[in-house]
Amino acid sequence: MPAPLRIGLAGLGTVGIGVIEIIQNHAEMIAMRAGRPIIITAISARDPKRDRGIDLSGFAWEDDPVALARRDDVDILVEVMGGHEGAARAATEAALEAGKDVVTANKALLAHYGQALAEKAEAAGCTIRFEAAVAGGIPIIKSLTEGLAGNSIRRVMGVMNGTCNYILTRMEDAGLPYEMVFEEARALGYLEADPNLDVGGIDASHKLSLLSSIAFGTKVAFDGIEMEGIGAISVDDIQRAGDMGYRIKLLGVAQMTGRGLEQRMTPCLVPQDSPLGQLSGGTNMVVVEGDAVGQIVLRGAGAGRGPTASAVMGDVIDLARGIRTPVFGIPATKLAETVSAHSAAPSAWYLRIRLVDKPGALAKVATKLGDAGVSINRMRQYGHSDGDAPVLIVTHKATRDDILTAMAAARATNVVVGEPVALRIEDV
Ligand SMILES: NC(=O)c1ccc[n+]([C@@H]2O[C@H](COP(=O)([O-])OP(=O)(O)OC[C@H]3O[C@@H](n4cnc5c(N)ncnc54)[C@H](OP(=O)(O)O)[C@@H]3O)[C@@H](O)[C@H]2O)c1
Repeated sequence: MPAPLRIGLAGLGTVGIGVIEIIQNHAEMIAMRAGRPIIITAISARDPKRDRGIDLSGFAWEDDPVALARRDDVDILVEVMGGHEGAARAATEAALEAGKDVVTANKALLAHYGQALAEKAEAAGCTIRFEAAVAGGIPIIKSLTEGLAGNSIRRVMGVMNGTCNYILTRMEDAGLPYEMVFEEARALGYLEADPNLDVGGIDASHKLSLLSSIAFGTKVAFDGIEMEGIGAISVDDIQRAGDMGYRIKLLGVAQMTGRGLEQRMTPCLVPQDSPLGQLSGGTNMVVVEGDAVGQIVLRGAGAGRGPTASAVMGDVIDLARGIRTPVFGIPATKLAETVSAHSAAPSAWYLRIRLVDKPGALAKVATKLGDAGVSINRMRQYGHSDGDAPVLIVTHKATRDDILTAMAAARATNVVVGEPVALRIEDV
């Protein structure tokens, strides 16, 4: 049997312990599949004394993940600490400088420094693999870089933050307001320490930026993503959308348009009977459309010990086999500069507007929409309350700019109460 691949494991939390468990439970099977044994030689975390529920005495300990990455008995670094600065970045750079491959679950690191790290890796003749960083256990990176490599990708879409999907599903099922379900999610430990990473769409946008780069051969452009969280969604919106045959999802969409790369992570209406519309709870889904293959749908656990460690191990086994694809599918120096196009593609929109309950109010708003080039497809008025008359409008296809112009003009009339809600209806 050839020499083992020796891992330095930085991070012994949810994912790190999952990696140790898989290697211990499946050592023989993995060795057969990889063509050589895969072993962990050294580990690092912050607290060497913490009981992690597993025997770690067989591994060398390093306090400093950078020293871990540089050890002579470490062939590859598995970085599962998290954070886009500090230890994760330093250890990754140290490994690459030493000519060692890196496997990471760290989407934040790659969303911010992916291009520089990829160039560093490839200049050193090594690579960075990051299947676990996008949609947990779903092998979407491998699908894009290998199975779908013969396709020109038209569009990538995904529900890639399980916590947001849990919150929206729970609001719908229990009829509970956002604030209450948010607190439930916090109590259940579903939210990051900074909840805005989840509910503000940042975490999912990190993932989308990585998928876009691979799908369209462009440099990672996290800053180019139009981002909107789920905090403004009401139970009312969810129910009204349901009445019209839609569900609301925090949906990431990336597509190349005539004006550049459109990337957005926003709450959208999707048809209830579509795969995305049927996704409930904390599950993730990624939809890819290629010119030859058509539409592919991948669904699975987006987080958790087993699923995330499964993705890490897929990458580790590839490296043990000697498979070294470029970080973002093509050489980093060949990735195109990203020209970001904000919401270039038109779509139908769901508008919820509260009007003062006076004759002529609706006509005034309809005129403002028309002036902005937004035409109405369907309209419904709901029960009046406290002098307000809520109106739901589904528009024909319009760009986001047209909708924003129309909403601003509607607000400037004296017939609109509060903030109107405008949500894109995604054609899935
Ligand atoms: N959890 C998931 O379901 C999931 C899913 C997809 C991707 N990811 C990504 O996977 C990575 C790890 O996530 P996790 O959930 O496993 O995190 P976690 O449970 O918080 O574990 C983080 C580990 O890293 C160690 N660590 C943190 N800072 C360190 C430092 N400066 N030096 C040395 N060790 C340090 C911690 O040490 P101590 O234990 O001593 O504090 C801990 O063992 C993150 O990038 C995350 O975004 C996680």
